[in-house]
Amino acid sequence: MASRSPAETERFGRRLGAALRGGEVLALYGELGAGKTLLVRGLASGLQAAADQVSSPTFVLINEYAGRLRLAHADLYRLDEPTAIEQLGLWDYADGRSVLAIEWAEKAGAALPPDRLEIRMTHRNPRARQLALSATGPIAQRLLRRVRNRSPHRNRRPARSRR
Ligand SMILES: Nc1ncnc2c1ncn2[C@@H]1O[C@H](COP(=O)(O)OP(=O)(O)OP(=O)(O)O)[C@@H](O)[C@H]1O
Ligand SMILES: [Mg+2]
Repeated sequence: MASRSPAETERFGRRLGAALRGGEVLALYGELGAGKTLLVRGLASGLQAAADQVSSPTFVLINEYAGRLRLAHADLYRLDEPTAIEQLGLWDYADGRSVLAIEWAEKAGAALPPDRLEIRMTHRNPRARQLALSATGPIAQRLLRRVRNRSPHRNRRPARSRR
């Protein structure tokens, strides 16, 4: 899907957040400034957590937000070796009551949980991004189905009238 503005990316994050049920892992990929943190801000808002507190956890690596579910927000940009991830305690959040959103997920290498929703964000131009979603397991597939079912565009298409 395409996002034509920061607000649209945040809105998509909110829709995703509203569809979360706990136990989901969201792996975010995309270069600097792709909009990963903005999407997580939307997630927090969709979980009724304090979205205005969402910032880049670049130095602490993991931030935690309390909402309808617990949201753990990690940024692995500064993770030097994939082995260091085991010390982070990231997988402690892989329980049914939490949601884990990971920026720079590629830094986790093979340690990433097998069932995850992968979100790849690429620059189209300064205000537009392309978002590609792919589910790698049943939990993520169910999430994707719920998100698509509550797409704001879904019911908006006018019935084609015969002329
Ligand atoms: N369509 C768009 N979607 C998201 N962000 C956009 C869009 N258009 C412009 N932007 C801008 O791009 C920037 C995205 O910043 P953000 O911190 O979310 O990126 P990031 O992917 O988390 O980067 P980093 O890898 O440094 O953590 C913001 O300044 C935002 O205003
Ligand atoms: Mg970021």
